[in-house]
Amino acid sequence: MTRQISAPRGTRDLLPEETPAWDRVEAVARDLSRRYAFERIDTPLFERVELFARGLGESSDAVEKEMFRVAGAKGSEEDAAPWALRPEPTAGIVRAYIEHGMHVRPGPLRLSLIGPMFRYDRPQAGRFRQFSQWDVEVIGDAGPAVDAELIELGQRFFAEVGLADVAAYVNSIGDATCRPAYREALIAYFAAHDGRLTEDSRRRLHVNPLRVLDDKELAPDVADGAPRGVDHLCDACREHFEALLALLDALGVRHEIDHRLVRGLDYYTRTAFEFYVAGREGQQQALGGGGRYDGLVELLGGRPTPGIGFGIGLDRTILAMEEQGVAPRTRPPLVAVLGPGDDHDRRLRVAASLREAGVAVRPDGSSRKLGKQLESASKAGARWAVILGDGDALALKDLASGNQRDAISIEEVAAAVSE
Ligand code: HAM
Repeated sequence: MTRQISAPRGTRDLLPEETPAWDRVEAVARDLSRRYAFERIDTPLFERVELFARGLGESSDAVEKEMFRVAGAKGSEEDAAPWALRPEPTAGIVRAYIEHGMHVRPGPLRLSLIGPMFRYDRPQAGRFRQFSQWDVEVIGDAGPAVDAELIELGQRFFAEVGLADVAAYVNSIGDATCRPAYREALIAYFAAHDGRLTEDSRRRLHVNPLRVLDDKELAPDVADGAPRGVDHLCDACREHFEALLALLDALGVRHEIDHRLVRGLDYYTRTAFEFYVAGREGQQQALGGGGRYDGLVELLGGRPTPGIGFGIGLDRTILAMEEQGVAPRTRPPLVAVLGPGDDHDRRLRVAASLREAGVAVRPDGSSRKLGKQLESASKAGARWAVILGDGDALALKDLASGNQRDAISIEEVAAAVSE
C-alpha cells in the first residue's frame, strides 16, 4: 500500500462536526466588530522577518524561538531579506497603517481581522503551530476610555459565545518614562535570586527582566516578592491605570489586577490584559490578551501614535466551549428531497425552488427504493424529507417525529421548515 501523508504537526483539520462551533464564534466576532464600529483589514500571511524582530522584539519567544520562516523560490530575494509567516497580526496592521498613510484618515482608526497565525512552537494541548485569532486594534487613541472599552468588548465576546466565568486580568507595565527604573528594580531583585531562576530567565534577565516575571516555572515565593509594576509607575501612567480601573468598575466588567502579567511581546506600554476561564489560570493558557503599544508606530517608522488592541485565540475559545458543553454541533435543519424511480429532474427542480426560498436542501441522487432514501436522509442528519409523489403534490415528513403532511405545495414546505 502507498504510504499515507498526514497533516503537519501542530496543525488541525477542522472536520464538519467541528465547524458549526467555528461558524458561531466567527459570526459573533464579526457581529461584535460591526457593533463596536471596527472596520475589516487584511494583511499578508507572511512578512519580512525584520518587521517582527523590530516590532515584537528580538528576545520575544515569537521571534527568538518560534519564527516560522518562509523559503522563497531558489535564488529568490528572500535569501537577502527573509520572510516569516505572521506569528500575530499587530505588527502587520501597523506596517499597513504606516505604508498607506492611514494617519490622514479621521481617527482614531478601529480595525479588526480574523485569520490564521503561525508559531513554530512545540505543539501541546491548546498550543498549535497554526491557530486563528480575532484581532482588534485602535490606532490613534491614548485612552484610558478605549482601554476599558476593549476589555469590556473581550468580556462581551466570551459571554456571547456562551462561555461562563471568563475573567480579565489587568496590569500596567509603564512607559518609556518609568519602565527603565522598574527594569532596574527587577534586575536587582532577580539577580539576588539568581540561583532560583530557570536557565531561560537567567539568560533573559538583562535583556528583558519583565519576562522573568511571567516565567511559569518561577518559584511562587520569588514571584510574590518581586517589585510590582504598579509601584513604579510615573504620575501619568498611574493616573491612566487608575482611570482604567475606575471605568471597568463603572462598566461592571469583572477584572482583577495581576502583578505578574507583562505579556510576551515587547511592544507593550501601560495597559496589559489577558482573559482566562476563572480558576483555570494555572493550568490553562490565556484565551486572549492584549494591551497598549504607544511606541510601536514610531518604532516601525511612522509618526508617534498611541495604539491598543487585543487578540483572542479562537482555537482555545472553542476548546473552552467544548469543555463547558456550549459548543454548537448542529447545522440549521436540512431538508432531503426524495422521490420514486428516476425522477431526478423533478427532485432538482424542487430542490432549486426551496433553495430560492432560503432552505438548505440536499437532494437524493440515487434511484433506490423510497425506504432506503429515507433511511440515508435520517443518517445524514436531515430534519425533514420532502417526498415527491404523482403530479405536483409533495409530502413533508418530519424525520424526528415521523409525522407526515401530504399534498402540500413548495411554498407550504418552505414555510413549514422555516418555522
Ligand atoms: P498573544 O497573547 O501572543 O497576543 O496571542 C493572543 C492569543 O492568541 C492568546 O491569548 C491565545 O489565545 C492565542 N494563541 C497564541 N499562541 C497560540 C498558539 N500557539 N496556539 C493556539 N492559540 C494561541 C498577540 O498575538 C497580540 N497581537 C495581541 C494584541 C493585539 N495586542 C495588541 N493588539
